[in-house]
Amino acid sequence: MFSNFKITDTFMRFKKILLILIISSITVFSACNEHDSSKTQTAQEASKSLQPIIIQGALPIESERMAAKLDNVNVETIGGWKFWKGTYQGYPVVISKTRMGMSNSAAATALAIERYKPIAIINQGTAGGHDPALKVYDIVLGRYSTNIGAFKTPKKALGQGSNTLDWNEAFDVLPDDESDPEPIAIRKFQGNEQLIKAAFIAKQHYTKGNVVEGTIGSTDVWNNELDRIAFFRTHYQTSVEEMEAASVAQIAYQFNVPFLGIRILSNNLTNGGDYDAGTGEACQDFVLNVASEYMKAQLAAKK
Ligand code: 5AD
Repeated sequence: MFSNFKITDTFMRFKKILLILIISSITVFSACNEHDSSKTQTAQEASKSLQPIIIQGALPIESERMAAKLDNVNVETIGGWKFWKGTYQGYPVVISKTRMGMSNSAAATALAIERYKPIAIINQGTAGGHDPALKVYDIVLGRYSTNIGAFKTPKKALGQGSNTLDWNEAFDVLPDDESDPEPIAIRKFQGNEQLIKAAFIAKQHYTKGNVVEGTIGSTDVWNNELDRIAFFRTHYQTSVEEMEAASVAQIAYQFNVPFLGIRILSNNLTNGGDYDAGTGEACQDFVLNVASEYMKAQLAAKK
């Protein structure tokens, strides 16, 4: 009788422990589920109420790492331009491989604006330093982006040669007065304030170099002449040069889409900084953080 009672008692205690274990695991499971579903909810909310942000890179080494980090991806190709449409941390994002240069990046931008109606555009990638104080892996936020390939040259007769250091008149390809066939001015496109703000938040997590504001100079030329680089620094206050940002800025400006150029130094001839291909990936990681900070702020502003 006594031993029987003992067995029943042990059995009852075992049942009680089992019950506690089942209840607590159900609680933990549903808490996890709640967390997960609130995350999905935010993501769905964001996807529905926000238009996508477009992040451009000219080359595969400047775009594919970001594309690989998207969820729910659809790849779309229009002409020679590839777009990965998806979400990053729940926010709608389109990664665009523009290919190199001013024409390619302008075309990719116009197509993307028409097709995806973006909330903003970031043009990012590698660049060459004009400022000797900047090192490879430093990042320049384009407070300004400017075309450094448009000029009206001085008149010279046959046999008098050509000297680009005498090209002192910048040609404005987007004049307010369209009746002027020879508009002389340096046009600088301003980086969007909210995007710059998001970049300064993302800066806290960037450990590979400094993040500074500056002027990005763009043209279909890779300048290796130090006097020419010094010319741009003097006349245009350039921090870096590359081949796309000002062209994208020019298109985004005409569509009234917020724009920012973000460029990492992959090389800097002015201080002996050798080319480093790893910079393309570092910039993509930084810019994804900028995009999610920007989208977070946009979503908060909507509430
Ligand atoms: N000059 C011009 N473009 C550069 N790029 C990287 N460094 C430089 C530089 N020093 C970028 C351009 C283009 C590709 C050649 O790399 O934006 O897409």
